[in-house]
Amino acid sequence: MLSAFLALVAILPAFANAQALYSQCGGTGWSGATTCVSGAVCTVLNPYYSQCLPGTATTTSNPTTTTSNPTTSNSGTTTVSSAPTGTQTPAAGNPFEGHNIWLTPFYAAEVAAAAANITDATTKAAAQSVAQIPTFTWFDTIAKVPDLGTYLANASALGKSSGTPSLVQIIVYDLPDRDCAAAASNGEFSIADNGQANYFNYIDQLVAQIKPFPDVRVVAIIEPDSLANLVTNLSVEKCANAQTTYLACVTYAIQQLNTLGNVYSYLDAGHAGWLGWPANLQPAANLFASLFKSAGSPSFVRGLATDVANYNALSAASPDPITQGNSNYDEIHYINALTPLLTSSGFPAHFIVDQGRSGVQNIRQQWGDWCNVKGAGFGMRPTINTGYTAIDAIVWAKPGGECDGTSNTSSARYDYHCGLSDADQPAPEAGTWFQEYFTTLVQKASPPL
Ligand code: BGC
Repeated sequence: MLSAFLALVAILPAFANAQALYSQCGGTGWSGATTCVSGAVCTVLNPYYSQCLPGTATTTSNPTTTTSNPTTSNSGTTTVSSAPTGTQTPAAGNPFEGHNIWLTPFYAAEVAAAAANITDATTKAAAQSVAQIPTFTWFDTIAKVPDLGTYLANASALGKSSGTPSLVQIIVYDLPDRDCAAAASNGEFSIADNGQANYFNYIDQLVAQIKPFPDVRVVAIIEPDSLANLVTNLSVEKCANAQTTYLACVTYAIQQLNTLGNVYSYLDAGHAGWLGWPANLQPAANLFASLFKSAGSPSFVRGLATDVANYNALSAASPDPITQGNSNYDEIHYINALTPLLTSSGFPAHFIVDQGRSGVQNIRQQWGDWCNVKGAGFGMRPTINTGYTAIDAIVWAKPGGECDGTSNTSSARYDYHCGLSDADQPAPEAGTWFQEYFTTLVQKASPPL
């Protein structure tokens, strides 16, 4: 009787404080209520953050976390001589050609739920249309990796029934000591705690998911920000400490993916306002080329991805004043400046460019501002008709509406950029849904949706 009473007392406050739609309801260090208002379900999005998302308890679409604590017997070292390089030859030309880009159901569900919560009819219809635009799927925790097999099975079936093979877009994003120069996207693995072996295991699991589906083409962006951090941020202790591990992990990723014969990789190359500064171009080209060569020049490494999750124009009508001092004031200037340096050092100079949130220009106070920049709109639609031979595709790499980082100063992953006056606030944890931000992206989309 007494225990029943105590149990009741224990659960009452949770019901009394049910969290509002899109609010936090759990995660590392969370001490608030873990229940949601009616019509919303507390959903685990990553170890740091559970969020009240639209739905009922039986319809949650989130990945389950069955493999969140991996162990592996990998030695953690990378040797070039024994590295598998694969025996297959990449298709000639642009890997996006001749394929239908597959739509991820995870983002489509996020968008559908978000649109359902928009009342204005015009904005709602525009929001709904976003579900038809392909984005990349970020594998930002190992727990999400099993989803890839499900996605590929669906993409394979669609390819067979339509007669046009499918192309699935993924982002490999789980380095140990991830996001070494910032805080908002710090990851699940730590170098001090078996991080490199855990990462190798993460890559092995990705490879195992892809192997049964050689008929589906996969395009992978490899580790946003990681190599760019090694070019410019070695003065940050965490980046300096991570340098050897990042290089070993990225090498392992491109070598293992290369064995599959259907995965085309693009290394992340920051953006015009980062590696595009004249002083950074040659060091960047040197790093990409030396990593590529020491990995055995994997033939399915196609090139570089730029502007991932950033806001730069592909080709700006006029330079944004914040770019002053850099002649490479947009992505095409950056790409054109980098291309000869890559080519002369033997790195394949092909590019994909994220324009998902680049619809509105001149919205930042400083070029380095990256977190939920206010006033951003969805940008150019994904296309392979890019107008530039060096650019294979314009893509949407950052799924617009997913947050860049929390504005909650007491969060373990609070980064000051997310509290700047040009950052939209209040913002939830990185990767979780930011409804207000999504609505603005829709309303300010250019071209309009
Ligand atoms: C977050 C990831 C998320 C990705 C795409 C990153 O900033 O750290 O968790 O998957 O954005 O939204």
